[in-house]
Order: sequence, then structure tokens, then C-alpha cells
Amino acid sequence: MRNFISVKELSKDEIIEVLDVAKRLDNTDSKERMKILDGKIMTSIFFEPSTRTRLSFTSAAYKMGCKELGFDNPDKSSIMKGESLRDTIIMVSAYSDVIVMRHNIDGAARFAEEVTDCPIINAGDGSNEHPSQTLLDLYTLREELGSIENKKVAFVGDTKYGRTVHSLAKALKRFNGEFYFVSPDIIQIPDYILKELDKSQIKYKKLNNYEEILKDVDCLYMTRIQKERFDDIQEFEKVKHAFNISRATIEGKCKDDMIIMHPLPRVDEINIDLDDTKYAKYFVQARNGVPTRMAMLAIASGVIELTSKRKEKPYPIVENKEMLCTNSKCVTHFEKTKNKVMKRSYGDFCYYCNREIGK
Ligand code: CP
Repeated sequence: MRNFISVKELSKDEIIEVLDVAKRLDNTDSKERMKILDGKIMTSIFFEPSTRTRLSFTSAAYKMGCKELGFDNPDKSSIMKGESLRDTIIMVSAYSDVIVMRHNIDGAARFAEEVTDCPIINAGDGSNEHPSQTLLDLYTLREELGSIENKKVAFVGDTKYGRTVHSLAKALKRFNGEFYFVSPDIIQIPDYILKELDKSQIKYKKLNNYEEILKDVDCLYMTRIQKERFDDIQEFEKVKHAFNISRATIEGKCKDDMIIMHPLPRVDEINIDLDDTKYAKYFVQARNGVPTRMAMLAIASGVIELTSKRKEKPYPIVENKEMLCTNSKCVTHFEKTKNKVMKRSYGDFCYYCNREIGK
């Protein structure tokens, strides 16, 4: 059994193995596949809205004979009576073989694994990480481009709050990716992510527009401006229409085999006139959530075990009662955590939400 909290915990070989398992499960006879998780229960608890992640986990579970419990409306759960996340996780664990959780608080998934032995899959925690999206993104890149090594990816949109961007950049650094972070200044990629890339000597550039780099990139990874994460709605109003790509802005200006991806939902950043072009891969990408999440459920519940060498923890993790994470949306401000700190060579970082402490 194992958790999927952050892509950081997966070695390069393990990532490739997960993608291989996903491919194999996608090609498995449907009757045989129904036996894989027969008798297991997946509980999905979604504290934030979702279409793709929740439904593709449900679809993945059903295709492997797994039953599902859960809620997608926390207003109907005992959270509304004041129950803590800690107690909720302890109780849900008693009914489940694997828990899939989406939460609005940064670090909620890391905290959840601290209070249970039941496998936890992080289905997105605030603006922190979204590892199941990353695995399906990598699956899509490999299927569509033939490889995920040495790819030039432009992340366009909200690179500050976009958890899919944070997780995918962390994963692609293992494959020697080269990145462009294309955002207005107020929603640019945070320094705590860039420090990780710097440590690995990954090449990247921060830009305000994509025109000058369009001809160079293998993948244009579009993202929605994350309205729900802004403290000041006036700031959102300034940037909400920052990007809108269309046939007119793409055709003839990019590589012939460039692909456009988007974790979805989109608002107005991709014009629908691109949907039936060869570049558009966002709907097939969403469909790839099913095999990828089948693999994650089978691995998390221990039915399939990864054999690749695991990633070693390169830095100590220590408990620090005095630690006060400066991210007001970190789980350490909402729950009784163990207040752990990652002691990296380039600074101290919150174990739960990954932010640099004191910054
Ligand atoms: N990509 C993604 O997480 O979509 P949902 O919010 O619909 O799950």
C-alpha cells in the first residue's frame, strides 16, 4: 500500500512504472479487470467542486470492481457540525480501503496521511499539488509526443495558484524538462517552486506573454485563472482575461506537432475553434484520467506493487513546535499537526504546504 500525496515522492522509474501500469490496465480485458479491486471500497471525499477528478476516480474504481462511498458536498457531512478534518479522516478510514480526498486547504492531504494508515490519494489540496492530474498529464505527453524526456513546456495562465502547474513542473524536472512560466506578474510562479527547479539546475524563464516562445515549445499547457484562490477579487478582475488562444493566434506560429493541454475546466483561455484542430489534446487528456487513476487505486490499495527503486528522502524532516508557517492557507493553521519542517540545503520549508518558512 502507498499514498499519493506529492509527485516529489515518486522516483523517475516509479513514474514510468505507474504510466506502464495505467497503459496495461487500459488494455486489460474488462471482465478480468473487474476482479482486480473486487471487494475493495474507495471513499472519495471532496471538499471542493470537481467534475473530472471525482468522476474519473469513480469510473476507474467501477472498472476494477471497486465499490465507492463518499461525499462531494461537505455541507451534508458532519464537518458542518464542527468535526475536524482529523476526526473525519479517522472515521472515513474505518470504512475504506483507500481514500481519495480533495481539499481547499494547502497541505490537507499531507496532514491526512499523518492521522491514518489507510492509503490516501491527494485529489488536489488548495494551490499546493494535484499528483493524479500530473500522472495523467505525463501519460498524455507520452502518448501524444512519444516521450516525456527533454520537453519544452510553456505553462500559460495562473502559475501562482495553479496546483497542476506546480505538480507537473516538479515531475517533469526529473525528465530534464525546460519550462516557460507565462503569467501576469501578480500570478507568476512562486519562488518556493523555482528554488526546487534551481536546485536541479532546470532551465526556465518567466514571461508575460507566449508569442515569442510559441515556435519553440512542444506543449502549451493552458490553465484557468483560479478565481477562488484570490484574497482580493479586484486583483482577479485585473487578470481574468489575460489569455485567450484561438486558431488565429496558434496556427502557423507553432511547431507542427505541438500539443495544447489544459487540466480543465476552461473558462475563456482556449477558444472552442481550436477544439477540432490537431493541436487540441485537452479532452483526450481528461479521458486519460481513467487509466491513470485505475493504476493509482490499484497501487494505493496494495493490489499492484511498484518494483522500481523508491526515491530516497534527500533532506531531514523534523518536528518543530515553534514552526509557524507564513502561508495563512496552510493546514497547520487549521488542524493540530505535528508541525514538521523540511530542512533543505537551500532553506527550511513547511512539510505540509511546501512554502518556505519565514518568506
Ligand atoms: N482537472 C481537474 O482537476 O478538474 P476537476 O476540478 O473538474 O476535477
